[in-house]
Amino acid sequence: MKKLLITALSACLLSAPVMAAESAAHVEDFAFSFEGPFGTFDQQQLRRGFQVYREVCSSCHGLKFVAIRSLADEGGPQMDPDWVRAFAAELDPAIDKDTGEERPRKETDHFPARSGDGMGPDLSLMAKARAGFHGPYGSGLNQLFRGIGGPEYIHALLTHFTEETKEEAGATYYENPIFSTGWISMAPPLSEDIIEYEDGTPATVEQMAEDVSAFLMWTAEPKMMARKQMGFTAVLLLSLLTVLLYLTNKRLWAPYKGKHNPNA
Ligand code: HEC
Repeated sequence: MKKLLITALSACLLSAPVMAAESAAHVEDFAFSFEGPFGTFDQQQLRRGFQVYREVCSSCHGLKFVAIRSLADEGGPQMDPDWVRAFAAELDPAIDKDTGEERPRKETDHFPARSGDGMGPDLSLMAKARAGFHGPYGSGLNQLFRGIGGPEYIHALLTHFTEETKEEAGATYYENPIFSTGWISMAPPLSEDIIEYEDGTPATVEQMAEDVSAFLMWTAEPKMMARKQMGFTAVLLLSLLTVLLYLTNKRLWAPYKGKHNPNA
């Protein structure tokens, strides 16, 4: 009995690292422009990423938490407001809250959602939803300087399809070591030159994956730059306050400290 237990235990211990190595393919860290305490979104990259989303991903993935008008916001892709208005009108119609009827989508609406057979999950917050387990390990400072890992995960997912497929219960699965189960029901969405970039950048799979990941970080956290700026101002002001308080404290106690009381 004891022998059996020891055998079972050592089998577990010995096989555990092997299993872990097999299932957790490596998500490479990536130096995106928006990482680090002073990082900012690269406007051209966001525009390219938005183009990838629009022309490739949007047929299966919604962005239902993203207001269309935010495309024109400073710090984002900053598209021309007139362009954004025209773009909104071309999207799937919206349902009017009051009448319950369909009406043309406006820039004040959100992007359409996607649901049904073959559709993927909403991508609005995906870059943050998949951040936790893929970020660089170590301290919070590491995260501050090297990013949270969500965009890295999306980039890795899009660039690690093998050619293998399998049929299971009438559905097709595509092998992808980055996906948790190793088999994903999304067909590889990107292939060389599937789109033609408006700014002339060569549309390699690598480039499109990087751009769309950056765009999805923006949809998940459009106010990142404002937040960092505010954080920096707060730290600066608090440092100043610390110095002032220190000096005040010293001055208040000066008569009682460090010298003998002449009246004693
Ligand atoms: C033909 C439809 C289709 C297209 C086009 C498509 N996807 Fe998907 N996507 C799916 C489906 C279906 C899933 C769910 C897969 C699963 O859970 O097995 C998915 C899942 C995902 C996930 C979630 C993976 C996870 O960890 O759960 C991400 C991220 C994603 N897609 C990104 C993209 C991006 C970026 C694009 C555009 C470049 C894109 N997809 C294009 C159908 C599509």
